[in-house]
Amino acid sequence: MGDKKILSIGLVCLDIINVVDRYPEEDTDSRCSSQRWQRGGNASNSCTVLSLLGAPCAFMGSLAPGPVADFVLNDFQKYNIDISLLSEHAQCSFPASVVISNVTTGSRTILHMNRNLPDVSVADFSKVDLSQYKWIHWEGRNAEEQVQMIQQVVLHNNPLSQQHRITISVEIEKTREPLYQLFPHGDVVFVSKDVAVHFGFHSAEAAVRGLYSRVKKGAILICAWAEKGADAMGPDGSVVHSDAFPPEALVDTLGAGDTFNAAVIYTLSNGGSVQEALTYACEVAGRKCGIHGYDGIVMSQSDKQM
Ligand code: ADP
Ligand code: FRU
Repeated sequence: MGDKKILSIGLVCLDIINVVDRYPEEDTDSRCSSQRWQRGGNASNSCTVLSLLGAPCAFMGSLAPGPVADFVLNDFQKYNIDISLLSEHAQCSFPASVVISNVTTGSRTILHMNRNLPDVSVADFSKVDLSQYKWIHWEGRNAEEQVQMIQQVVLHNNPLSQQHRITISVEIEKTREPLYQLFPHGDVVFVSKDVAVHFGFHSAEAAVRGLYSRVKKGAILICAWAEKGADAMGPDGSVVHSDAFPPEALVDTLGAGDTFNAAVIYTLSNGGSVQEALTYACEVAGRKCGIHGYDGIVMSQSDKQM
């Protein structure tokens, strides 16, 4: 499995980040302290973090050609992320988010627009040479098709011994009914605080206990809960917890969840335990919250090797 990659499937978009030290009043004209473009999208952000942690990774998603695509492609390259599975859609617009990032509170307010860019389809996915990957992660989007993609991986896995199988993870982040069909399809399932609250749970522990019946036998269900850290439940029924690692100053929480997911995948794909994965992911995500963007989440070479 040595040089097999982790494949992350989902959105890439442009984040136009406006850094402020005070959230603006509606209908006012104020200056922000800085402004920058950043490659965004959950699956794409997780690739950035996987790559920074030293894991060979690939991104699969769609993009619309033009100057924004050039910026994004260049950035993928900068982080050494394999983009051979990107598909171009000539007549579409590139999705973008305008983000207000408040350095005083660390909050990020996102306004996202995706006009017409199609998601990765089952037909696209059936052309993928699965033998290159040890782990495939789906950011929950076009769930019905994503379930069919996962079924292709299950068929691929069937004749293989456990150690050669591709691990399947899914993220259920948005409170959209169709996404909930993904629960029984991941070996590792990430469920967000938003979804947990939607189901009536008030803590990560209550969420993993309450939602565990939805996942398949043997799966690990994980729920991150911002400054409260994260909890997970595995097949033995015990709940594992990590506290958060708050940074000295909370400056930018954009992509904290994507960072967390990447660090969990990184740890588990290297044979770490669920406890090790949660603790490390909270540590890396906490560090992310203390800096702008992602560069700097890895402290040292020894950190990369864990
Ligand atoms: P997102 O809103 O980006 O999905 P989450 O709220 O799910 O992110 O947080 C993911 C992880 O990031 C948490 O488990 C925690 O480890 C870290 N994190 C997020 N917000 C904070 C915070 N305010 N302080 C410390 N850590 C945080
Ligand atoms: C962060 C993020 C941003 C993007 C938005 C899309 O998790 O992926 O990069 O603009 O969410 O919902």
